[in-house]
Amino acid sequence: SASDPALVERARVARERLGDRVFVLGHHYQRDEVIQFADVTGDSFKLARDAAARPGAEYIVFCGVHFMAESADILTGDAQKVVLPDLAAGCSMADMATFTQVEDCWDALEDAGIAERVVPITYMNSSADIKAFCGRHEGAVCTSSNARRALEWAFEQGEKVLFLPDQHLGRNTAVLEMGLSLDDCVVYNPHRPNGGLTQEQLENAKMILWKGHCSVHGRFTADCVDEVRARIPGVNVLVHPECRHEVVTKADYVGSTEYIIKTLQEAPAGSSWAVGTELNLVKRLGQMFPDKTVTFLDRTVCYCSTMNRIDLPHLVWALESLAAGEVVNQITVDPDTTHWAKVALDRMLALP
Ligand code: 13P
Ligand code: SF4
Repeated sequence: SASDPALVERARVARERLGDRVFVLGHHYQRDEVIQFADVTGDSFKLARDAAARPGAEYIVFCGVHFMAESADILTGDAQKVVLPDLAAGCSMADMATFTQVEDCWDALEDAGIAERVVPITYMNSSADIKAFCGRHEGAVCTSSNARRALEWAFEQGEKVLFLPDQHLGRNTAVLEMGLSLDDCVVYNPHRPNGGLTQEQLENAKMILWKGHCSVHGRFTADCVDEVRARIPGVNVLVHPECRHEVVTKADYVGSTEYIIKTLQEAPAGSSWAVGTELNLVKRLGQMFPDKTVTFLDRTVCYCSTMNRIDLPHLVWALESLAAGEVVNQITVDPDTTHWAKVALDRMLALP
């Protein structure tokens, strides 16, 4: 059904009927069949910034995952309705940190007497109530394209950082970009009392990393890097910072999805690249840059199953419903959560 010309035509017609009343945002991990209808594509940071770019549009159709649609709702006015074409498009990483777990963690840090020296930073890939938690506790949001600047800011505000929910982005940024050591990092496990950490560990740690990860990027291993280097002489290894530390350590380049596209764009013709990120994007890179060789870092298939929930049939359904005056799958964040999550998001948007 994906390439069904009838569906493509229906999407085009509904899109045209809506005109400027709809603004379609697409994350780089979306399917080609969906990306072709996006007014703007981007990484998480760019989409958060661009969500508010068309204040005149009544509807924002967010082709991405739930936490992104929530952030778009938080960053736009009440008059704009955010629609997620499939409500099952969540994020397994975001689900690894619940509000109650994060509150329990903060209680543990208070009991240990260190909470007032800790600045909470949450990766964009988290629910709105966790962003709000960070807003209330003088912390901020970050994405993979500004994690270093967010951490630098945090270490100006306090001695320690609680980094939610992606341990890999936190560790990779602290160790590979800011010169902290692996010993400065501890992992807080929400399923163990006190996170499984001793008083001494909490006192010595500079980075308290939440035990969360991306199941897609978690599949790349150090062996994948060694194998591709053996297979393709001179290959450049380019990965997303959600990959494990040993993978990022072995890679040549690391950055957000927007950075990955830009790096390929600027690469010389004839160069070879092994890319460690979601497969829809890696395949698209091959189509975009036919003068370069683009290989997937893993040998197996590696889509983000929740990003893939947004397919052409769902997009057609959302657009046709809106064109008929029915708002489906609206994502709304309550006013109090919106207020505090916006505080945390605005701190990120204000980073130099
Ligand atoms: P970026 O597009 O910000 O690099 O994020 C990647 C990601 O995993 C989004 O879920
Ligand atoms: Fe979440 Fe990973 Fe999918 Fe991004 S790629 S939406 S972090 S599961």
